[in-house]
Amino acid sequence: MSKVAIIYYSQTGNTKAMAEGIAEGVRANGGEAILYIPQEVKPYMVRDCTGIALGCPAMRFEQLDDDIFEPAYESIKPEFPGKKIALFGSYGWGGGEWMRTWEEEIAKEGVQLAAESVICCETPNSEVMEECRQLGKKLS
Ligand SMILES: Cc1cc2nc3c(=O)[nH]c(=O)nc-3n(C[C@H](O)[C@H](O)[C@H](O)COP(=O)(O)O)c2cc1C
Repeated sequence: MSKVAIIYYSQTGNTKAMAEGIAEGVRANGGEAILYIPQEVKPYMVRDCTGIALGCPAMRFEQLDDDIFEPAYESIKPEFPGKKIALFGSYGWGGGEWMRTWEEEIAKEGVQLAAESVICCETPNSEVMEECRQLGKKLS
């Protein structure tokens, strides 16, 4: 059975709602979905997962949150090989530039993403929530 860790950082709930949509998709496919916030996730917790979805909103001029999200992200990078990886998150005004930068960075790490990243402006609407469920299905 597939087991998917969904690690998300969210200040105002938009990326959190997307994470919950991804979990719904994983579970709809019969997989196990476990939601983690960066403050709690440790590399061993994702070791036996078959997939990892990483969610972080656009922060500090089109970048990832460096206080809370990035340290957790860096710590679990060694667990990526052999797993299905996907990215998601919400943005405000930048048109999604932070996600393009993130995708380039993760590609340089040798990660081939398992699905197209899901992004949305502020609160996810029903269309975006469906994209999140589809992403969860692809990871499971
Ligand atoms: C400190 C801070 C920095 C932000 N920087 C950006 C940015 O560079 N580009 C952008 O498009 N949105 C930016 N935003 C907007 C957030 O990405 C947007 O509100 C998003 O929906 C927040 O997601 P969340 O509810 O999961 O926290 C920023 C918001 C905050 C609070």
